[in-house]
Amino acid sequence: MNWKIPLSDLRLTQEDRDAVMAALESNWLTMGERTQNFEKAFATALDPENPPYCFAVGNCTLALHMALVALGVGPGDEVILPSLTFVATANAVLYTGATVVLADVTSPEDWTICANDVRAKITPRTKAILPVHYAGQPCDMVALLQIAKEHNLAIVEDNAHGPLADGWIDANHTSRALGTIGDIGCFSFFSNKNMTTGEGGMVVTRNPQLAEKLRLIRAHGMTTLTMDRHKGHAFSYDVVDLGFNYRIDEPRAALGLSQLSRLSANNALRAQVVAWYNKALADVPGLTVPFAHRPAQGRQALHILPVLLPEGVAREAVQIALRDAGVQTSIHYRPIHTFTYHGASPLVQKDGLELTDILTPRILTLPLYPSLTEADVQTVANALKAALAGA
Ligand SMILES: Cc1ncc(COP(=O)(O)O)c(C=O)c1O
Repeated sequence: MNWKIPLSDLRLTQEDRDAVMAALESNWLTMGERTQNFEKAFATALDPENPPYCFAVGNCTLALHMALVALGVGPGDEVILPSLTFVATANAVLYTGATVVLADVTSPEDWTICANDVRAKITPRTKAILPVHYAGQPCDMVALLQIAKEHNLAIVEDNAHGPLADGWIDANHTSRALGTIGDIGCFSFFSNKNMTTGEGGMVVTRNPQLAEKLRLIRAHGMTTLTMDRHKGHAFSYDVVDLGFNYRIDEPRAALGLSQLSRLSANNALRAQVVAWYNKALADVPGLTVPFAHRPAQGRQALHILPVLLPEGVAREAVQIALRDAGVQTSIHYRPIHTFTYHGASPLVQKDGLELTDILTPRILTLPLYPSLTEADVQTVANALKAALAGA
């Protein structure tokens, strides 16, 4: 389809192309110096004063799986996560053999995981909380940190949506980068994300023991890397853990490094676009723009622009009308408990998701990307208003 306004827009620059070409021409394609430089730059971008350990990986799904393995999550354990997320968040838990316990959203204005529901769903088997910074909006990390402390739980942040966004960590509104607040944070560089490597991800921790474990299990549990042997620093290796091959490669790390150099500027443009949407959609009867009245908690990295359609509106008719006006829309997300596989799985607990169930048929995602203009936003808003008037 030739969209007038697509849902997201990938703009690669000459620098991106040059960086990938230089990696290809270097004759070294598996994880090497470009990956190390990407990890170092990402760590500094997250927190220049106290950079965390960062490991670039093949995608965020792998990052989530590694995080849970590193924390020792396995069969019999329970991990609490929101039902309103991408399926990978839940699947990473299922790969370990642990049970997924789904939690509700906070309110019609805040679609992140409800901290009170997390608290209510803790059992002696709960091992970790897996909050998702939905749309790049911080979860209530102050409450979640408190719950984790009281119950001795780990926190893995799914920060696929919010690279370089900050969230509050205490009542004084001290900010830290999302993904560095819990025990381990996971990032996605999938093609439609705020920065991309095509497929790619990063797993981040401040804990040196967890870092060592993550370093090992990313590459087969081996004590030396192919790069170390190539450089003559090592001749052999031992295998000291059951690891995986979850590595990224040099062309993608090079693209990541190039993309990272523009991420803060693009995140600022996204915030401006969202501000235009908030203004343009403020007077639509019955429509809610979640998070519209929430203060920023530091740097922002907004990824998608979800809205809650007025009650009783036929969503598909609205999507068709917008499509006919050249505007692409999507749905983030169909909740985990409504999928055939997860709905039937005895390892997925789906009680107490009333608010998610109420909101689900009304969820719609509008286009959001850095190059959208105020006039584009007005076009989308006008098309939505016309669609609602006809729905
Ligand atoms: C919230 C969330 N978690 C995890 C993932 C998985 O990321 P990846 O595609 O890099 O594996 C995504 C990807 O879209 C996501 O949106």
